[in-house]
Amino acid sequence: MNKLTGAILATLLTTTVALADPVDDNLVLNEETQIVTRTAAPAHLSDVLDEVMSGWLFRGTETRAMQADDFDNPGMIFVEQAMETWDAVDGTEGKSCSSCHNDIDSMAGVKPTYPKWDAKAGTVQTLQMQVNECRTERMGAEAWDYDKGAAINMEAALSSVSRGMPVNVAIDGPAQSTWEQGKEMYYTRTGQLELSCANCHEDNYGMMIRADHLSQGQINGFPAYRLKNTKLNGAHDRFKGCIRDTRAETYSPGSAEFIALELYVASRGNGLSVEGPSIRN
Ligand code: HEC
Ligand code: HEC
Repeated sequence: MNKLTGAILATLLTTTVALADPVDDNLVLNEETQIVTRTAAPAHLSDVLDEVMSGWLFRGTETRAMQADDFDNPGMIFVEQAMETWDAVDGTEGKSCSSCHNDIDSMAGVKPTYPKWDAKAGTVQTLQMQVNECRTERMGAEAWDYDKGAAINMEAALSSVSRGMPVNVAIDGPAQSTWEQGKEMYYTRTGQLELSCANCHEDNYGMMIRADHLSQGQINGFPAYRLKNTKLNGAHDRFKGCIRDTRAETYSPGSAEFIALELYVASRGNGLSVEGPSIRN
């Protein structure tokens, strides 16, 4: 870290509060699904981190409890809306998602592998891009707006059926160059504050920053229901907010830059359980 960055961070981080460690707590969903919220870091991070931790461990007692029971989790209301959309016919082909995929439970195990390389498209695709491919190419329906309404609700529904399964995105093979691009972004300092993602989420997690308990910035819990805006938030929207906080120009949800960043950040959570929809501040 250079001197300037260090000085700015020192003013942001609350020095009066010493390290505020993540809580020692276990997340069991609906008294049956064990969620892995901390585990050994994946091999590609072994130089920088021993353990990876879910953002859940950095939230308060009430927020953590809300996520443990689907009846208390407001994010599940949006999942239920998406379950109805799953069965609703849309587009010129007269098809619904269930016409081809049957029950949404058939999608268990899909979310942990995204973003992933799509040979036909010749690019890395996020889950929302894959869903839009089905809509535009197979249903004759309009693409949904990125990180908004129906798109984020469907991502949450697809995530909900994979909860408890370990994130497992591929970082080699044809996805590798996109992953490298995302990694480069993660470590590049941006904005007037000259801070990279790593300055906050790798070097200083556990510290208090303003009134917030800084986590590792993992996305295994996304989409996340935020108490702040009472809706589901996509990972790209979150990236955008964090980049804005460094007073830098940011990218749009669905942009090539954020797709690469999503792949890289997802890979930092390989081994943590899929948690979405999670509850965050
Ligand atoms: C100035 C410090 C700072 C920087 C730089 C920063 N963030 Fe954050 N970020 C935060 C704070 C504060 C939060 C809210 C508390 C938390 O969950 O860590 C947060 C939250 C997040 C979350 C939500 C985690 C969860 O479990 O809900 C993600 C994901 C994230 N950041 C990713 C990024 C990425 C990617 C970058 C780089 C583009 C970045 N952040 C840059 C401070 C920062
Ligand atoms: C006409 C049939 C059809 C319809 C309707 C359809 N899909 Fe698909 N879907 C497919 C096919 C075929 C694939 C495999 C494509 C591929 O591998 O590139 C697929 C792949 C997927 C995948 C990725 C699965 C994986 O293992 O990576 C998801 C997620 C998905 N669809 C979601 C949806 C959703 C959500 C809808 C409704 C909005 C929908 N699909 C509608 C045919 C359909």
